[in-house]
Parts: sequence; C-alpha cells; structure tokens
Amino acid sequence: MNRLLSLLLHAVLLLLAICVSRTVCGAELQLVPYPNSVQLFSGTYALTDESAVYLDLQGHERTLFLRWLGTSPLKLERCADRPERATVKLLLSDSESKPDSEAYALQISRDEGIRIEASTGAGLFYGLQTLMQLTEQYGRDRLPCLAIEDAPYLRHRGLMIDVSRHYFPKEFLFRQLDVMAHYKLNRFHWHLVDGAGWRIEIRRYPQLTQQAAWRTDESIVAWEDHGLKYATMQTPGAYGGYYTQEEVREVVAYAAERYITVIPEIEMPGHNEEVLAVFPELACTDAGGRPVDLCIGNPATLVFLENVLSEVLELFPSAYIHIGGDEAAKTAWEHCDRCRKRMEEEGLASVDELQSWLIRQMERFLHAHGRRLVGWDEIMQGGLSPDATVMSWRGPQYGLQAATMGHDAILSPIQYCYFNFYQDAPEAHVLSWAGYTPLKKVYDFNPIPDTLSVEARGHILGLQANLWTEYIPTEQQAESMLWPRGLAIAETGWTRPEEKSYARFRTCATEAVSRLRHHGLHPFDLEREVGERVEYGDTLRHLASGCPVRYLQPYTEEYPAGGDTALTDGLQGGWSYEDGRWQGFIGNDMDVVIDLGAEQPVREIGANFIQDRFGWFWLPCKVEISVSSDNEHFTPLAVVENDLPFVQTGFYLRRFGWKGSAEARYVRYVARYDAANPKKGFLFTDEVVVR
Ligand code: ACM
Ligand code: ZN
Repeated sequence: MNRLLSLLLHAVLLLLAICVSRTVCGAELQLVPYPNSVQLFSGTYALTDESAVYLDLQGHERTLFLRWLGTSPLKLERCADRPERATVKLLLSDSESKPDSEAYALQISRDEGIRIEASTGAGLFYGLQTLMQLTEQYGRDRLPCLAIEDAPYLRHRGLMIDVSRHYFPKEFLFRQLDVMAHYKLNRFHWHLVDGAGWRIEIRRYPQLTQQAAWRTDESIVAWEDHGLKYATMQTPGAYGGYYTQEEVREVVAYAAERYITVIPEIEMPGHNEEVLAVFPELACTDAGGRPVDLCIGNPATLVFLENVLSEVLELFPSAYIHIGGDEAAKTAWEHCDRCRKRMEEEGLASVDELQSWLIRQMERFLHAHGRRLVGWDEIMQGGLSPDATVMSWRGPQYGLQAATMGHDAILSPIQYCYFNFYQDAPEAHVLSWAGYTPLKKVYDFNPIPDTLSVEARGHILGLQANLWTEYIPTEQQAESMLWPRGLAIAETGWTRPEEKSYARFRTCATEAVSRLRHHGLHPFDLEREVGERVEYGDTLRHLASGCPVRYLQPYTEEYPAGGDTALTDGLQGGWSYEDGRWQGFIGNDMDVVIDLGAEQPVREIGANFIQDRFGWFWLPCKVEISVSSDNEHFTPLAVVENDLPFVQTGFYLRRFGWKGSAEARYVRYVARYDAANPKKGFLFTDEVVVR
C-alpha cells in the first residue's frame, strides 16, 4: 500500500511538473531554428563558471570541440573525466537511436543538470547551439527545465557568398560562419571565381591571380563604364584581392570546427571573362570582343579545368564540388571550328549538348577522385550528367523536375533565396538589385510542395540563399543583406513545416538582430522595416475601372501582369517588377486606348512607371495623353517629358499624368520607349487611372 501511494504521489508530482504550454512565464522560447519537439517543465537550472563538462568525443575532433567550447559564450572551460562528475554531459549515443547525424536531445533538469545526446559531434554541437540560445534569452543562471528532441528537416542548409564581384577578407567569412553555425546552417558555398575577378590561388597558374584578381575600379558600375579592364596588385588605384591556399585552408578548417562544409565553386564554361583575359587561347576561334565562354572544342580547356580542380580537391574535403554551369552565352560555340568539330565527333546535336558534354567530363573527373558534381540548373539543358546534383536558381521548378527524374537537388530559387534583392522599400534601402525579397517572403518559401511525389522528396537535399555581390561593396552592406534573412533559411531548412510560425520567428529574428549588433555585425534593422508599397494592398476604383483596353502596340508575354485587363483592374504593383502586377513592354511603345463607355467629364489621367538600371527597366522618355469622343479624332491633353537619366542608379517610381478639365469617352495613353537608351530594356506600368 505504501509503495502504491508513493508511486501515485510521484505520478501526480510529475504531472504537475509538466507544463503543457510552450511558454516560460508567458514568453515563448526564442529559438531559431525552432526545435521540432519541446516539453517544458517547471523550475530553472543555473550554469556557473564551476560547471564542468563531460565530452564523449575522442581525438582531433575532441580537441577542436573543446577549443570551440572554451571560446564560446557558454564559457565552459572545466572538463570532467566521467559523466557523473559533470553538470553538462555531452554524450554520444548509438546511431540506431539517433539515425540522423545532426539530431540531438537536450534535457535541462534541476537535479541532473544539462544533458545533450547525439550520435555525432555535429549533433552535440547543435544541442549546444540550442543551449546557447537559451542562455541568451534567460541568462546562464535561469535556464528553463525542459526536454527537446530535435532533428533537421533538410540536410543542406546553405549560404552562398560571391567573392568575385567584391572581395571579402577571410575575417569577414569567419564572422558569417559563426552566425551560420549558431543557427545550424551547415553549407557554405564559396563562389570563388567569376568575370569580375579570380580569387583563389592556383599554384600551377599564378597568372590567374596576378592578372585577374584586381580590376581598375571597385564599383562594378564604374568598372563597366571604364571598359571592364583587369589590373595587377601594383596598378595604382586597383581594386581586388584573392585567397592564398593557406587562407583557403584556414577558412575550410574554421568552418569544419563549426560543422560547416565549404563547397567551392569553380565556374565553367560561362562567366569566364577573367580566365580568358589571362589565357585568350582558351576562347573560341573568332569569339570577338570580350569572350565569356571557354572553348569546349579546345583540348587545352579540359586540361586547364582539370588542373585547377586538382588543386581545389586538395584544399576542399567537401564531397560536392560546384562547377557553375549557369548563363553560358553559347553563341561563340556555334561559330567556332573547334567546337563544331567536337560536336561532330561526339554526335552532339546542339550547343546545349556541347555544354552537357563538358559537364559529363568534369563529373567523370570528380568521380575518379571520389567526389560528386553539383551545378546550376542550366546543366539540365543539354541532358543531365548521370549523378549530378542540380542547384535550382531560375525557379524551384528545375530542382523539382530534377528530383522527379531521380537526381538530387538543392533549391535556391531567385524569387525567394536571392539576398542581393531589396529586403525593404527601395527608398529605405541601400542600393540593391531590382527585386523585392523581404524576410517574410524568404520565410514563406516551401522547398517541398505537397504535389511532389514521396520518392522525389527524398532527392530534395535542402535549400540555400545566394548573395551575389555586384552592388555590395562593403562588409556592412553584405551583412545587412545576409542577416536576418539567413535565419529564415535556417528555420525553413531545419524546422518541419508544421512547426513553423512567422509571428514567433519574427520576434526571434528581431531579438537576433540586436544580439548580432551587439557582436559587432551589421544586420538589417527589422524594427525600421517600411514594408511593401502601400498601394499594392489596395484595389483602386476610378472612371476606367474594368473598362476595355485596346492595345495599339503589344505588351510582352514575359510580363503580361493581368493581360488585357491589367491596366484597368485596380491592382497596383509593388516593389518588385516580378510581382505579377507590372505589365512590361519591350522594343515598342506602350500605346493603349481605353473606352470609358460613355462621354463624361475627366479631370485626371495618369500612370506609374518604374526604373531600375540594375533590372533593365526604364521610365518612358515621354508620355502623350489625348482624348476622343469618337475613337478617331483625338485631342492632345499633355506631353510629359522624362527628366530622369537612364544612367541613374537606384529604384524610381514616377507618375506621368495630366490634370485639367475635359470631356472624353476614349482615353489614349502613349508611353514612348527610349530608342536612344543603349541599354534596351522594359517599360513597366501597372494601371492607367482616370478620374
Ligand atoms: C545565377 O544566378 N546565375 C546562378
Ligand atoms: Zn570553341
């Protein structure tokens, strides 16, 4: 009886101790990525400087782990030789109980202290990141008692940084790797070479860094304006830099200590202007002007690439090597004797197949060295190499297609994962690429749609954000583009979709911004976010609402917005020309006649246009507005000239309109395409408003 009573009492006490809510004193745990299972108990536990750690790792990994632990904000410097003597136990369990190598269980209890269990060092490391985040929220001496069981949703949770367009020193990379690790991001994709500069020392080809790691101007815009010339380190005013092999090893080791794999990208066969400036013999015959693509017909190209990759393989232990593969121009190949000969000999029917042939050679080479190939989604165009992993950037569809074909895929679609785009209203923002990708949009990206088959789902390795740095010259600016949006990638990659919550995440991200600032980083200040263009959320009503529009010149099929009704549907565009509200015109004027249905007084006619040099869309050079009662004889009301030069950088939204007094049934609105603008691009407008 006594025994039964005591058992009952224990059960009641246990039930009382378990708090069913997910909050501690009403506040949610501020964890990013949010764990997949959390149980909170009553009570707190205090870590002190005396707290000793037992670490169940051996050898080199143990040494590195302890070094990291000693310098981490947890300040756990004392080691215990047996678990019983430790208040922080980091224990390895067998991989059967934790099959996911990154999974961990974290328990904090008043009596037992802190216990983290995982089947690998990575799992222990992630358990400690969660513990660190708890200490940030509650302090070391008031840690909530809890039990967390956690494992990542996806394997590849990545960040890419382009160091070609602007060079960032290794110390900058160390800081970003620290932040990545804290939020359980585990892949750093290093875009090391591109037309704006070769940035990795290759011992066999010192000319690459001697002649193509510097350029005449820091600003890409100025560099373009001055003829895209390379320079040497000694050239007065030259801008650039590169990583020595020793520095590369340092970055790789720093990342590895934080369980981050560095995936190098050696871009081929396009985006090779810098290589071809140093080795013009690797360009196609008659490539003309400034060649961009390597000649695939030239056997020397393959020798060059394999020699470069050989050194890269020595520096990077990553199982995956990225070979680029995006945006090759391919035109020179069509006219090159050597490329044509290669196509003939290999039975290749198109230049797309020629590119695929090269990728297959590279895959063979990587396989021979025990590595695997990953490339941008254009590697699918001429047939996909047998084992290639596709990095889907032009949209999610390519990755999903590759996964359906049985290939692995990593999703980094431009619409959600490109951090070179504006994250806030353009006027509140430093100069960026044209496009609008605020935190919520990144967070809402779902890499595995319900429509994907169960089999294909297993091929989605994960997701990745890309930071292209054409317009990002400074470390501060790069950090503000990366954070806190990188946290959204971290949570989407780790937390199961059903456990995600933007409201909770945003609170955590806002707190994370102040912490990152405290650590000397420069994240974007979420509290000052202006947000989407207000008009985007409104539906306008005006005299032309719903009225038929006759197009005297066509809009482009690429950006139809709502089609024939787009200009009178009341829907206004936002900060992104790609939001489906902006109708595009290319190569011709916008010339429309709107039928108001009956003659009536009008006081105002106008439309908005947007300009962004980096997005290749421009304001019209002038607008002509006229009215008619019979649709034949039009009375001019206004000619509005544009005074914004097309070389101006930045995003501009301008209204071109007339105000006055007239009678009209038909309104003709003509926006002239600027034939004098050497950079041909789009006109974009969203609504012709008549009042
Ligand atoms: C890319 O953005 N060209 C991969
Ligand atoms: Zn060629």
